[in-house]
Amino acid sequence: MNIPEQYNQIVTKMLDYVESERTDQAASTLSVPSRAYTDPSIWEREMELIFKRLPILVALSVELPHSGDYKAVELLGKPLLITRLEDGSVRAMLNVCTHRGMLVAQEGRGNCTHFTCRYHGWAYASDGRAKGITGLKKFGATDLNDHGLTQLPVHERGGLIFAVLTPGVRVDFDRFLGGMIKDVERLNFQDWHFCGTREVFGANWKVAYDGYLEGYHFAAAHPETINPRTYSNVMHFEAHGPHLLVGFPQRSIGKLRGVPANDWWQHENDGYDFVRLLFPNVSIFVAPEITQIAQLIPGPTPDKNRTVLHFISRSAPANDEDRVKLEQMIDWLRDVVDKEDYQVGLKVQKGLESGARSHVKFGRNERGNQYFHNWVDYYLAEDPQRPKPQL
Ligand code: FES
Ligand SMILES: [Fe+2]
Repeated sequence: MNIPEQYNQIVTKMLDYVESERTDQAASTLSVPSRAYTDPSIWEREMELIFKRLPILVALSVELPHSGDYKAVELLGKPLLITRLEDGSVRAMLNVCTHRGMLVAQEGRGNCTHFTCRYHGWAYASDGRAKGITGLKKFGATDLNDHGLTQLPVHERGGLIFAVLTPGVRVDFDRFLGGMIKDVERLNFQDWHFCGTREVFGANWKVAYDGYLEGYHFAAAHPETINPRTYSNVMHFEAHGPHLLVGFPQRSIGKLRGVPANDWWQHENDGYDFVRLLFPNVSIFVAPEITQIAQLIPGPTPDKNRTVLHFISRSAPANDEDRVKLEQMIDWLRDVVDKEDYQVGLKVQKGLESGARSHVKFGRNERGNQYFHNWVDYYLAEDPQRPKPQL
């Protein structure tokens, strides 16, 4: 099915849910052990089997649009260097000097033709090749070819840059990203304007991610921000492998009854919204004025996550007034996530750590959460024979 047909069908379903006071439902409820959110041994396995083996988002294309642009960032204890080469391709490398382990590029973004280690001055090209060893004659014979920065598998698609944090792991990026990246691709994020980032700090990464997967909490947790615009507890779920497209009808969705049904697919943000979730830790919310791409970074301990909210807009602000408006919108969105979702998440974490309940329960309406937890279990099982979760 092509995207217009798929979206038209989703809108048909969302209109029906609203008009008949129903929502998309899983076959049954699901219990998840509380220790899935608290046990350090489970968290370690998640880091090893999910975050260090699967493609994860490391940058947006618009963060490094030009040849020579780079981004140095630490993810899950791995210092990364992401660069754009002259031919337009990207590299992801460990930002660790092959001499004695110093971090080569300073954390942040910039543009340069080569990187010089600030300890003894070894130099590296944008693609990570070692270019020069200081005082080579005194140092002793050393082959430059063996001393490039460690390369990581990397893949750029749909304006997003993914890497695998373990060198040498063979991954079929296209297969993993599947239909979800095709959906994202049509938005052409690589042509958008990068507005900047905000950081928020919260609970265990799955506690935080659970909040992006359902609209059941809108009325109670977002009574004045999201709830006036969007129905609480009405969602539609579509899966692409472990990834999810979640539809949320706006309170104005009924107006689409006055629009030809073949055109409904063109009304995203005008009657309904989508959240696109890239397993395991990215949530994309597209809005007309600004798009928020949340990247949840587990740690440093199992009960914590740091979330980087990346903001992009379709075009750069035309003047100072627009710039101020954009910044206000970014801060508003950050505040909703921080004050209404992540503060709740921190209290959830306390409740879970208290040992009061051996399990938490997901309702039939929390179908996306069920699917997400089933996929986490799938990867933790390390059993290729195990059937893949189905929505
Ligand atoms: S550690 Fe980088 S040059 Fe010595
Ligand atoms: Fe929320």
